[in-house]
Amino acid sequence: MRFLRDCISILLFCSTLLLIVEVATPVDTINTTLSIRDGDTIVSAGGTYELGFFSPGKSKNRYLGIWYGKISVQTAVWVANRESPLNDSSGVVRLTNQGLLVLVNRSGSIIWSSNTSTPARNPVAQLLDSGNLVVKEEGDNNPENSLWQSFEHPGNTLIPGMKIGRNRVTGMDWSLAAWKSLDDPSRGNITGILVPYGYPELVELEDSKVKYRSGPWNGLGFSGMPPLKPNPIYTYEFVFNEKEIFYREQLVNSSMHCRIVLAQNGDIQQLLWIEKTQSWFLYETENINNCARYKLCGANGICSINNSPVCDCLNGFVPRVPRDWERTDWSSGCIRKTALNCSGDGFRKVSGVKLPETRQSWFNKSMSLEECRNTCLKNCSCTAYANMDIRNGGSGCLLWFNDLIDILFQDEKDTIFIRRAASELGNGDSAKVNTKSNAKKRIVVSTVLSTGLVFLGLALVLLLHVWRKQQQKKRNPCRWTRNSCEEAL
Ligand SMILES: *[C@@H]1O[C@H](CO)[C@@H](O)[C@H](O)[C@H]1NC(C)=O
Ligand SMILES: *[C@@H]1O[C@H](CO)[C@@H](O)[C@H](O)[C@H]1NC(C)=O
Ligand SMILES: *[C@@H]1O[C@H](CO)[C@@H](O)[C@H](O)[C@H]1NC(C)=O
Ligand SMILES: *[C@@H]1O[C@H](CO)[C@@H](O)[C@H](O)[C@H]1NC(C)=O
Ligand SMILES: *[C@@H]1O[C@H](CO)[C@@H](O)[C@H](O)[C@H]1NC(C)=O
Ligand SMILES: *[C@@H]1O[C@H](CO)[C@@H](O)[C@H](O)[C@H]1NC(C)=O
Ligand SMILES: *[C@@H]1O[C@H](CO)[C@@H](O)[C@H](O)[C@H]1NC(C)=O
Ligand SMILES: *[C@@H]1O[C@H](CO)[C@@H](O)[C@H](O)[C@H]1NC(C)=O
Ligand SMILES: *[C@@H]1O[C@H](CO)[C@@H](O)[C@H](O)[C@H]1NC(C)=O
Repeated sequence: MRFLRDCISILLFCSTLLLIVEVATPVDTINTTLSIRDGDTIVSAGGTYELGFFSPGKSKNRYLGIWYGKISVQTAVWVANRESPLNDSSGVVRLTNQGLLVLVNRSGSIIWSSNTSTPARNPVAQLLDSGNLVVKEEGDNNPENSLWQSFEHPGNTLIPGMKIGRNRVTGMDWSLAAWKSLDDPSRGNITGILVPYGYPELVELEDSKVKYRSGPWNGLGFSGMPPLKPNPIYTYEFVFNEKEIFYREQLVNSSMHCRIVLAQNGDIQQLLWIEKTQSWFLYETENINNCARYKLCGANGICSINNSPVCDCLNGFVPRVPRDWERTDWSSGCIRKTALNCSGDGFRKVSGVKLPETRQSWFNKSMSLEECRNTCLKNCSCTAYANMDIRNGGSGCLLWFNDLIDILFQDEKDTIFIRRAASELGNGDSAKVNTKSNAKKRIVVSTVLSTGLVFLGLALVLLLHVWRKQQQKKRNPCRWTRNSCEEAL
């Protein structure tokens, strides 16, 4: 009896010790024998990220997610069961022998699961300090061999190291989908994807309609986004090769935190964690202004945030439906004043623009601007060309066909050459902005001129008047006004 009691207390002691040990050294892996219940978490080796169950905002539902380990404001960067919440805290995550992470509810039904194309032998799931949850063979740290990664399945957040774009080998997209609301991480109606047709660019969709485009990558940044500048927080890259196309940021200093969030209203927010204030700082919203709205000015229209109204036709174009245009419905866009005749056309340079939609464009990375021009001229439906990369004086060739869509004026370095009928090329109106300022100049000049003329006229009249007065004085000094006459006398 006593022996049994001793045994039990020793066992109790041992298990308490075990518990303490477990609590004291947080693990970063889940294996086939160690599962995670609601309340448990695993923490990445450096403590940067944590995985466990949480409830977003005012929600009472439970979600399996990853959040920052060292940040006082709970901020989820990834959610597993975003479409299938648990309504209580009975959730358990485990790793199957085949290498699948499964989340089950109270009745043991699978609520969410990872997947893999190759079955595992000795799988573990590890939360890396980058925030990536990786299922792999134990001991195999080559990321290329991983069986599954959360980075391959982004939610509404892009953290450093994650890609947005497309794997051209598997055809899988790395895309973002906004939450429905701050309390509901299920997919809202806003998504951020890469358009792989023509020359790739990122777009934001509302349902299936384009809401915003990034513009093509010009070597320095996306043509339509605020210019990226080298900064002490993150580096950025756009990779476009046979295997993949993506945009990615990397932290310069791993003790900093930054993230890009596709918000439920469609804002693309770049946020920075400020240690001093213990809060997220909205560093930049990429698509905030009115001209950011896709195709606001219709085909061949151009948007300029500093103009009122913001829409205008490209130079050489006129509104397709003037009545609509006057009522600020620009959707019908613009048509050419003078049709192209194919053989005798030329180009006008327009600078400081967001390049038009590249969905139907053609490109060649090694062509010079001159070759680009000639290639465009040879094809009657080619309507514009530009350099692909604006660094080092410019290189590569981008061609557009038919209508030019979603162009805007902005303080960017991108320049486009727009095809025009030969008969319209005489007057040096290379850009609408220039014409505008020319027009302004003309107005100023003519105002000055006409004011001058009026003054000249007045002066002449006055002179004539004085002269006549003198003449009259000479002839008949007091005939026309007594006072002046008297004075004169
Ligand atoms: C899983 O991890 C625990 C704790 O690290 C360890 O005790 C156990 O042996 C592991 N199981 C397997 C199958 O590796
Ligand atoms: C959760 O959902 C189950 C099944 O729909 C239901 O039986 C249970 O009462 C719910 N629990 C709570 C706390 O709402
Ligand atoms: C568990 O999930 C299954 C499938 O979604 C559902 O039918 C069941 O009601 C859930 N059970 C509980 C207790 O929530
Ligand atoms: C994993 O699941 C996703 C989403 O259901 C699917 O698109 C993908 O093809 C699956 N991958 C594998 C390797 O089965
Ligand atoms: C998208 O969702 C928002 C908010 O949920 C809503 O206001 C908007 O009308 C929706 N858009 C469409 C096209 O359904
Ligand atoms: C990284 O940032 C932290 C906190 O701002 C700072 O203390 C540290 O010196 C920085 N490290 C480097 C290598 O810049
Ligand atoms: C096209 O324009 C050029 C130059 O104005 C002219 O020489 C040529 O005849 C025109 N071609 C056609 C088919 O109209
Ligand atoms: C791209 O341009 C270069 C230089 O003009 C040329 O040699 C090459 O064949 C072009 N590639 C394609 C796919 O047209
Ligand atoms: C002009 O370019 C378009 C779009 O790439 C193509 O479909 C068409 O065949 C080209 N026409 C000629 C004459 O090369």
